Amino acid sequence: MEKILTADGSYTCRHPGYMENYHAKEGARAEAFAKFVRPGRLADRLRAGPVRLLDVGFGLGVNARAAIEVARETGAHFLHIDSVEADHQALTRARTLNPDCPVLSSLENTGQWREPFAEIHLYNTDIREVGLTLPGDFDLIFHDPFSPMKNTECWTVELFAHFKTLLRADGMLLTYAEADAIRAGLFQAGFSVGLTPPAPPHRGGTLAVPLPAQAPDPLDPEPFTHPPKNIAYHDFTLKEDGKTIRARREAQVRTLASAEEEGSANRRIGGAKGEIGGKANAEHRTSNIER
Ligand SMILES: C[S@@+](CC[C@H](N)C(=O)[O-])C[C@H]1O[C@@H](n2cnc3c(N)ncnc32)[C@H](O)[C@@H]1O
Repeated sequence: MEKILTADGSYTCRHPGYMENYHAKEGARAEAFAKFVRPGRLADRLRAGPVRLLDVGFGLGVNARAAIEVARETGAHFLHIDSVEADHQALTRARTLNPDCPVLSSLENTGQWREPFAEIHLYNTDIREVGLTLPGDFDLIFHDPFSPMKNTECWTVELFAHFKTLLRADGMLLTYAEADAIRAGLFQAGFSVGLTPPAPPHRGGTLAVPLPAQAPDPLDPEPFTHPPKNIAYHDFTLKEDGKTIRARREAQVRTLASAEEEGSANRRIGGAKGEIGGKANAEHRTSNIER
């Protein structure tokens, strides 16, 4: 396994199956604070009362350890973290990168870790299995799988809808993803969706709060109610593989593209017929279905 030193001095590595890095090269630790801990207002929440966090995709434990740091510094109320990780090798990789970390060694030995202001329970399984059995009332969900193109089963309307049932009324889901397909999925699952601010060099991401609450800096839901922005990923049984889920969405995208093409050709013909001696009303549109 190759250790990758990121810009803030923290380490990450590449997943050999997904062929993606676990974190941005701009800084693994800084990314955890910029995209999850700060926009989730974890410190404020901990000052107000105990916090329950669902950490989806524990990976190398960077997000979870950033949250623990805040709980220790705040020193007010207790932080309970349920971390979920499908890959049994993730903890081994995390330990190789951080051999002296007592949190990781305790998780490796017992699946749990606890100190006065925080604890973690690690579930080594698919979020779609354990997510259905965890008791709700989470204040925060840090949703950090690999990219939608590679880890598609984690980005569906049905999983987001389940997350909504796990969140408290004033809870919040945070993710680094910015794609329309993901934001559409969150809208369709019953969330108010907003932007997390960029924290250069890190880009902004997305946050979502269960309706009827309103997200800070909310996105207008209207453009996400019709194509192409409303084409989300679906996993109707919460058991499908990523390839099937991707193929379904790609088929929808192709159908829309050919309908657009046909409509545009019809308009060209209509325009040419309607304009006696005039120029054809040719339309050169670039489809922006995939972004
Ligand atoms: C980008 S990495 C997460 C990095 C991590 N949050 C950290 O702070 O180090 C994505 C993680 O999601 C895990 N994952 C992918 N699909 C999953 C699933 N269906 N259920 C649970 N974890 C999953 C991957 O194995 C990987 O460890």
